[in-house]
Amino acid sequence: MDELVLARVLHVLGVVLWIGGVAMVTTVLLPTLARMQSMTEAMVFFGQFRRRFATQARFSTLLVGITGFYMIYVLDAWQRFTQLQYWWMHAMVAIWLLFSIMLFIVEPCNRRRQATDTSKQKPISPDVFTRIQRKHLMLLLLSLITIAGAIAGSHGWLIFWS
Ligand code: HEM
Repeated sequence: MDELVLARVLHVLGVVLWIGGVAMVTTVLLPTLARMQSMTEAMVFFGQFRRRFATQARFSTLLVGITGFYMIYVLDAWQRFTQLQYWWMHAMVAIWLLFSIMLFIVEPCNRRRQATDTSKQKPISPDVFTRIQRKHLMLLLLSLITIAGAIAGSHGWLIFWS
């Protein structure tokens, strides 16, 4: 049982590091960049910031995934995926998959493409950060709903269909 508690502690720490970072980027960094005078400078800063954050987010995503699947295995909770009242289990895996694809596949591919394609630098649109912020806000809201559902659900409050 101690291993289960440890897995839960590491799972939640991973979530805090990862989604906390997403919240900071969405509510502080992107609005600040959108108000900068030079979009080129803002883009260079954002590129450097994103690379550093991606490394941290990859680590937390892995930690959350490993500890999450470990808990399902120990609790033998696989049948929950067939029950709607455990919608938050589906939501956790969906959010995790979405971020993993972005962090481990899309982001490295984009970076490689940008490195080999320096000749065709497109002009930066002034509302680029507003658009990025909108996407981040959507992901942040989905993550917060998932966190609320997971905390309530794993402590016995199965909201909806109970
Ligand atoms: C592969 C992905 C994931 C798996 C397999 C997974 C699995 C689990 C399991 C089995 C539990 C314990 C449930 C229980 O005690 O009944 C749990 C708890 C939790 N998970 Fe996940 N999870 C994953 C991703 C995520 C993500 C992406 C988030 C946040 C957006 C998240 C947030 C939480 C929270 C907040 C708890 C509740 C901890 C508590 O209050 O005790 N998980 N997860």
